[in-house]
Amino acid sequence: MTPEFDVIILGAGAAGLMCAMTAGARGRRVLLLDHAAAAGKKILISGGGRCNFTNLGTRPDRFLSENPHFCRAALAGYTQQDFIALVDKHTIAWHEKTLGQLFCDGSARQIVAMLLEECAAVGVDIRLSHRITAVDAGFRVATDHGTFTAPSLVLATGGPSIPKMGATGLAYDIAARFGLQLVPPHPALVPLTFTGDDLALMLPLSGVALDIIATTGKTSFPEAMLFTHRGLSGPAILQISSYWLPGQGITIDLLPGIDAARLLIARKAERPNAALRTILGELLPQRLAHAWAARFDDQSMASLRDRSLAEIANGLKSWRLSPAGTEGYAKAEVTAGGVATEGLAQRTLEAKAVPGLFVIGEAVDVTGWLGGYNFQWAWASGFAAGQAV
Ligand code: FDA
Repeated sequence: MTPEFDVIILGAGAAGLMCAMTAGARGRRVLLLDHAAAAGKKILISGGGRCNFTNLGTRPDRFLSENPHFCRAALAGYTQQDFIALVDKHTIAWHEKTLGQLFCDGSARQIVAMLLEECAAVGVDIRLSHRITAVDAGFRVATDHGTFTAPSLVLATGGPSIPKMGATGLAYDIAARFGLQLVPPHPALVPLTFTGDDLALMLPLSGVALDIIATTGKTSFPEAMLFTHRGLSGPAILQISSYWLPGQGITIDLLPGIDAARLLIARKAERPNAALRTILGELLPQRLAHAWAARFDDQSMASLRDRSLAEIANGLKSWRLSPAGTEGYAKAEVTAGGVATEGLAQRTLEAKAVPGLFVIGEAVDVTGWLGGYNFQWAWASGFAAGQAV
């Protein structure tokens, strides 16, 4: 019996929808299955409900992977400009917020509606609320609503980040069953947690935000940081979390662009009777300035030797911290690691050893920076596979 479909795609998220509309436009008969009751749920909550759908600065070195070159071909095959052209075709208004990040003026719902419209126009058969119970060679997909077969199967079920939204490790399980290797997954773009003295300092600062530079190893991000009741968050910390490994330290420059030692010594000469916290309060948010000064008994500037001021400045310029961990998959915007790229073809995302099996989107060991990069990878990898299935 001829199969009813040419391709079955598991996961109606960003990558699955793009793959489906691309394959459908080529005349492929596409079945898109998802266990959720609605398509594109992560798109709907993304970017604070406005979906940061791409980044003008998309380039391969803004993605993490065991093979940093792997993402090149797909990113070149479907660029940020291609997605912008699609958004413009649907007359969805957008704006650049900061650092090349593009958001809808209206709502993320417009992006989901656009993708569903494109799928409908090319006859993609979308079936939601389908629980996948087994996947066998062939490809044969058993669900609680019957069994479907097709010569091509695309794994687009993402990573395990935000399990309460229905995220699972299904793609990893199926890929492993077909002999593909996994790069150990871990939460990324996630707040960092602290214990002991570090947390004791941070706790009363919960809610304080400031611009900093966060560094781990050779990687630095100059962006905002937010103190939380468990540690640190904000864009700079989320970015650095993707590069941080348990046991490693991070360093924070609380006064980016300021020669703090020179400045403190100059202030001492100008205003010897000022309290340290007053001077720090002119450079940092008040609560942080007070907490920092309290570590040095909040002395007057005159009572502090230049050497002590230089040490205080050094502490502010390179605050060394040892994160205890992260807030985990419950709070992670993405999952780093995943299906190893060595088993996949760069141009098509097809498994080299399993013809007809494709893995796309977040399920693959390609993780973007914060700021629209992860959606751009979902669109680009979905398009690449959609051209090949
Ligand atoms: P995605 O997670 O989108 O889709 C997977 C689909 O598979 C889902 O529909 C799910 O229901 C389905 N599925 C999972 N397990 C299944 C199973 N066992 N059976 C059947 N179906 C299953 N990125 C960005 O670039 N800009 C942004 O603004 C944001 N903002 C953002 C906010 C928040 C809160 C989160 C959690 C994430 C972001 N992201 C983001 C990241 C972005 O959402 C993510 O990288 C992409 O959605 C990944 O696309 P995928 O299609 O690979 O997975």
